[in-house]
Amino acid sequence: MKILVLYYSMYGHVRRMAEAVAEGAREVKGAEVIERRVPETLSEEILGKMGAIEAQKGMAHVPICSLEELEAADAVLFGTPTRFGNMCGQMRQFLDATGKLWAKGALVGKVGSVFTSSNTQHGGQESTILSFHITLLHQGFIVVGLPYTFQGQMRMDEITGGSPYGASTIAGAQGERMPSANELEAARYQGRHVATIASKLAK
Ligand SMILES: Cc1cc2nc3c(=O)[nH]c(=O)nc-3n(C[C@H](O)[C@H](O)[C@H](O)COP(=O)(O)O)c2cc1C
Repeated sequence: MKILVLYYSMYGHVRRMAEAVAEGAREVKGAEVIERRVPETLSEEILGKMGAIEAQKGMAHVPICSLEELEAADAVLFGTPTRFGNMCGQMRQFLDATGKLWAKGALVGKVGSVFTSSNTQHGGQESTILSFHITLLHQGFIVVGLPYTFQGQMRMDEITGGSPYGASTIAGAQGERMPSANELEAARYQGRHVATIASKLAK
């Protein structure tokens, strides 16, 4: 059972969540988990202006996903930062290059799930995940979220990401906040949950 954790991360928040998602998926017997990035679309110059060069260097060892790897996966957990309440352009561009897979129904019946990050608490995490689901449904994915059995999404004692749509983290206005223990637990839960469903489907 092949589980693909596929993400874009500019400053490392989604990447940290992706690592936790992968950890959770690896807990499921028979899960072969790989972590992949989507290609960058911005120039070095723009990345420099956005203060992202150092974080990007730290992710350089994570391979770029091929369409073959996407096609081979039984389940895909997609991670994207929020951009104006939507997925980022890098992820959009990757998905827009999957027309050939769509034409032959290659992704139909796979499990798909989304996690995200935004700077502000109400800055569009839910809209990012839900609008991402539209693409997954067009491709025939079976969409899976983060059920309330992950009770950490109900806590009121601290500010936290996470909703029934998927795990998320709040990065802070300057990106100064890294995922909290609760948000990482949500990510692990989602990874485990998706891999468990994929394993049941494989049987
Ligand atoms: C063009 C652009 C649009 C953004 N739009 C939003 C937004 O709508 N809401 C929000 O809270 N944060 C927004 N952000 C902040 C990013 O979501 C934030 O940098 C990201 O979640 C950090 O994750 P990363 O380190 O994995 O890239 C935006 C950032 C950029 C560059």
